[in-house]
Amino acid sequence: MFFEESILKRAQKKELVEVHFHDLHEYSLTRYGSVDDYPYGGGAGMVMAVEPLANCIEKLQGERRYDEVIYTAPDGEMLSQPMANSLSLKENLMILCGHYKGVDERIREHFITKEISIGDYVLTGGELAAAVIADTVVRLIPGVIGDEQSALGDSFQDGLVAPPEYTRPPEFRGWKVPDVLLSGNHAKIEQWRMEQAIARTQERRPELLRESSKA
Ligand code: ADE
Repeated sequence: MFFEESILKRAQKKELVEVHFHDLHEYSLTRYGSVDDYPYGGGAGMVMAVEPLANCIEKLQGERRYDEVIYTAPDGEMLSQPMANSLSLKENLMILCGHYKGVDERIREHFITKEISIGDYVLTGGELAAAVIADTVVRLIPGVIGDEQSALGDSFQDGLVAPPEYTRPPEFRGWKVPDVLLSGNHAKIEQWRMEQAIARTQERRPELLRESSKA
């Protein structure tokens, strides 16, 4: 599974991050371990019940201080690189994966400190959203990805998409690597990369340039 095979797994092995999973069924009050119930007022789908969730969140909060209790939902704030940067500076994050039709609103009102959407589409559950959030946050922790500079050079870190990259060979089927990259002139290479990043952003994600001129 994702958490076991990825960069996240390596980060856990290196003890740069701890990831714990909590099974809400263990906090269920019913004989069958159910964690959802029919919505008041009727309608299709089930709602995650307030009691098991509150019990689980409070037990965890009794064990450590959480900087954020995050709920994944399509109506949350859109995940962005600045948001990931800020979350990566926190000590402890709890992520509640939304499921079924949603959670009892009282959980959102009384426990959740941040609601995050990973995009304008609906997933069957919040697990994938939680995995996306965890990946984008954990990779920013120093030491998690090999090259410290690499995360800083990512697309979006400076409000631009990344410039094109090449590796050996310098020519393949007549397709050449741009001369400047082979020149050894670092100032020129940096200038070329910046120009490419701006041109690409203009072409592919012009709204990013408008957003950064607003900030
Ligand atoms: N749960 C269902 N859809 C979601 C989305 N787009 N983002 C976060 N959580 C979700």
